[in-house]
Amino acid sequence: MEKNIMLNENIFWIGKIDDRDVPFHRLTLTKGTTYNSYLLNTEKPTVIDTVDISFGKEFVDNLENIIELDKIKYIVINHTEPDHSGSLRSLASKAKNAVIVCTKPAVNELKEMYKLHDREFLIVRDGDTLDIGGKTLKFIETPYLHTEETMITYCEEDKILFPCDIFSTHVANYEYFNDLAKEDIIGDFIGYYKLIMHPHRRYVQNMIEKIEDLDIKMIAPSHGFVLRENVQSFIDIYDNMSKNAETSKKALILYSTMTGNTKKIADILKEKFEEQNIASKVINVNKTPKEEVIAAINEADAIFFGSSTKYGDMIGNMEDILKNLKSLDLESKLGVAFGSFGWSGESIEVVQDYLNETDLKVLSTSDVIKSTGMIDVEFPLRIRFSPNEDSLIKIERSVTYISDLLLSGI
Ligand SMILES: Cc1cc2nc3c(=O)[nH]c(=O)nc-3n(C[C@H](O)[C@H](O)[C@H](O)COP(=O)(O)O)c2cc1C
Ligand SMILES: [Fe+2]
Ligand SMILES: [Fe+2]
Repeated sequence: MEKNIMLNENIFWIGKIDDRDVPFHRLTLTKGTTYNSYLLNTEKPTVIDTVDISFGKEFVDNLENIIELDKIKYIVINHTEPDHSGSLRSLASKAKNAVIVCTKPAVNELKEMYKLHDREFLIVRDGDTLDIGGKTLKFIETPYLHTEETMITYCEEDKILFPCDIFSTHVANYEYFNDLAKEDIIGDFIGYYKLIMHPHRRYVQNMIEKIEDLDIKMIAPSHGFVLRENVQSFIDIYDNMSKNAETSKKALILYSTMTGNTKKIADILKEKFEEQNIASKVINVNKTPKEEVIAAINEADAIFFGSSTKYGDMIGNMEDILKNLKSLDLESKLGVAFGSFGWSGESIEVVQDYLNETDLKVLSTSDVIKSTGMIDVEFPLRIRFSPNEDSLIKIERSVTYISDLLLSGI
């Protein structure tokens, strides 16, 4: 900690400024960053989030200069990613009486990462409050902003929002507050939003709804500047950028089937796209002239190619269509392989191989994980036999993901 920075009476910034080139999500943060942690020094002293794992000792040593660590009653962990929870182990080992406060999905991650199996946890749910002696904390679950277990903590008396990664900026700064910043921070604030939050923009809208009725005087995020001037304008940026852009984007679903199962998937895909207000068209490639199929491909923005598997291979005219793709300009379009299968579904993988040889941006589970961290969206879309309840969820997730890409406007 550089010095004692006070946000309000008894509320201190106890973070770490990291002005190195910081490696993060396969990028390098050339402006560095800060890991903002906060101490609410009430009758039941509470720490909100910690700092990156590499600064654990320094963090705990500094905190020890402000407060006797065994007096700390609560450690609130809004988000388990180790740039914020990283110093929990060091802190918890000295703050022996502290109860760790987090959401249900966070408990196991924290226990496993920091060997805290014997520690007392307080699981909080959306809207729960906690009296910390003179101040009241309210918890708001914000799943997928940007990981499943995240939440926001709001201090009712001081009207301060502690949203962890949300509303952050990656800038190592020594001014702490946005009104003291030497340069305009909007560009960095938007850059951060686009990188971390925009892929989850549907959840940004849910979060905005949840905080709408709160009186927010200050936003104390976990990276970069504490926002205490023009606070609402930062919330408005998230609101406006996460709204659906008007779109004329189109999805096309091509299929080839023996007994109708792959057609069922195609029809569900169409229905789900329509729920997202994205125009979609389904074509049976075995009953439609090739020229017509190619024309539809040229018009579409996301194209699904589906075939069931027969003796380890795809069926009907699908392969002929796939062979034609190389000669088309598909650069800005998304491609998805899908199909019904019985036990191994080779055709779906062969379709994927074909798509990978084209200009299409072919969706894969691996890319989804790398770009968003989401592990429940699967590409290619593989459905066993006739679609059931589970397949519906799987299909819906894929459509939601693709719709977000098509509607994102970035
Ligand atoms: C003649 C025949 C061969 C099949 N061969 C395979 C196969 O090699 N691998 C596999 O995973 N499923 C195989 N299946 C299962 C089908 O892919 C499965 O029944 C699928 O749901 C059919 O989808 P459809 O109605 O869209 O054609 C085969 C089915 C039939 C009738
Ligand atoms: Fe994070
Ligand atoms: Fe972070």
